[in-house]
Amino acid sequence: MPANLPGIFVTLEGPDGAGKSTQLKLLCKYLEGQGVNPVVSRDPGGTALGRQIRRLLLNPELFVSPVCELLLYQADRAQHVSEVIMPALKEGKLVICDRFTDSTCAYQGFGRGIDMALINQLNQIATSGLKPDLTILFDIESEVGLSRLHPGGQDRLEREALAFHQKVRQGYLKLAEAEPDRFVIIDATRPFSLVQEDLQKIFATKVDISKISSAKVSN
Ligand code: TMP
Repeated sequence: MPANLPGIFVTLEGPDGAGKSTQLKLLCKYLEGQGVNPVVSRDPGGTALGRQIRRLLLNPELFVSPVCELLLYQADRAQHVSEVIMPALKEGKLVICDRFTDSTCAYQGFGRGIDMALINQLNQIATSGLKPDLTILFDIESEVGLSRLHPGGQDRLEREALAFHQKVRQGYLKLAEAEPDRFVIIDATRPFSLVQEDLQKIFATKVDISKISSAKVSN
């Protein structure tokens, strides 16, 4: 993360069907009970511009080339970081983002096979070097994750073959292994309430909520 931003930046990552977005909603209720109002956002789609990009990216009727896909995710991210994430961190807020740069490494890098050095370079440009303080990986076997998605209603990425999703999952595990200080892995195959318990414990131990509570926090 660029030097000395007072806020805390947490990202949630994982393969499709891991349940992280639903878990995040419940986590926010828990945090609000602790007096913390996090800024919650998602990648792609955390800004007005990004919501248009998200629609393009996930539309199952469009053909999107791998490089075009990579650049659209990065365009969304550049806007998101400058418009939402960076200003909130500068104000000392807790920012929780549903997906971030690790998704690009997992999906476009490990999944599509695009050169990781290029992805890292684009991640760096799009984020101005911003890195999460903590990344929580919701790990789930691809077959189980995909079986949780609504049949027929899947977006363009969710409709990819099982082999693609398996590469994404393995990719995530490699990313977590490479940065054990930043990543915490949750076994997302367990019952919903146990996963939520884990998530709350991780926040209680790894996120200095007192720092955030005393900062001016509002959405
Ligand atoms: P979600 O917001 O419902 O998880 O959908 C976003 C989809 O986009 C999901 O399949 C993961 C994928 N994705 C990428 O392929 N690359 C990225 O950089 C990001 C942020 C998401």
